[in-house]
Amino acid sequence: MRKSFASDNYAGVDQAIMRAIIEANSNDVPAYGNDQYTARAVEVFKEHFGQDVDVYFVFTGTAANVLGLQTFIQSHQVIICPETAHINTDECGAIEKFLGSKLLAVPTRDGKLTIDDIKPLLTSLGDQHRAQPKLISITQSTELGTIYSVEEIKQIVDFAHQYNMFVHVDGARLANAAAALDLPLRSFTTDLGVDLITFGGTKNGMMMGEAVIFANKKISNDFKFIRKQGMQLGSKMRFISAQFIELLSNNRWFDNAKHANKMAQLLAQEVAKNPYIRLMYPVQANGVFVKIDPMYIPLLQQEYSFYVWDEVQHVVRWMTSFNTTEQDVYQFVQLINAIVKG
Ligand SMILES: Cc1ncc(COP(=O)(O)O)c(C=O)c1O
Repeated sequence: MRKSFASDNYAGVDQAIMRAIIEANSNDVPAYGNDQYTARAVEVFKEHFGQDVDVYFVFTGTAANVLGLQTFIQSHQVIICPETAHINTDECGAIEKFLGSKLLAVPTRDGKLTIDDIKPLLTSLGDQHRAQPKLISITQSTELGTIYSVEEIKQIVDFAHQYNMFVHVDGARLANAAAALDLPLRSFTTDLGVDLITFGGTKNGMMMGEAVIFANKKISNDFKFIRKQGMQLGSKMRFISAQFIELLSNNRWFDNAKHANKMAQLLAQEVAKNPYIRLMYPVQANGVFVKIDPMYIPLLQQEYSFYVWDEVQHVVRWMTSFNTTEQDVYQFVQLINAIVKG
């Protein structure tokens, strides 16, 4: 079967991570995270994000977001996020259902929030008739494949804290951002005062597993209960933990993400040569968004799977992953150029 450009979730499991799962399968260990793998995985996270963080593992990114945010937010409070945020578009209203709180989704040019977007939303702070903004959620790298600079995140965090609000970073693809910025994970999260990070393993070569990272330990006190009530306390947690150890103790997380980004760059560079294809956003992580004549989309999809991102504007999304090869990209580009000709 051809390589898919639909999503980094379509990719399989990194062989080294598969081996780590098999190695963790050799004998009995305590359940529910009371095992040596989980203890080590937490240590490894602390090496990346700082000793003061509290770390918990869950199965899906949606669960990480919903349960992490539930820890910070009451139902009369508001989460501000970009319109394109996964929590707004692709979590089936889970935030609204489980938190009962309002999402204020703000249109953006490129998937990134700015202080100017947020300021007008704070005029009713303290007004008992209005739900109260309490948390700003940003995604790094964004759902549009763009990346916040360190300074941009710092501005948002400083601004939020000035108004007694929290900041969440949806880091389903945080590794791709670190690789693109060539910076340690903490330098654009915990070092800046981000309160909550949801960190993705699945899209970067794991079979499954995401982490919920709290910079604010007072707040995380109850998370173990929230996770259990939220049905995300894995009894055989060692198998998530062993994957994170393998991913994060070596440079594997960085190399995998860097490779995925590089393949997106290559794809973007090659399709930019085709005059009938328009790149929609700067390609900074592992997603390429292009506008093409809609008549070509089904023809391309007969050969390669990918998603139509915007049915109205005819924008499609092509994602690369840790195991996309240069050959995969060139083969795809060859087909694109054979089909998209006018
Ligand atoms: C930005 C972002 N956050 C979170 C998720 C988590 O998704 P899932 O619940 O499918 O693991 C995704 C998955 O596509 C995502 O793109």
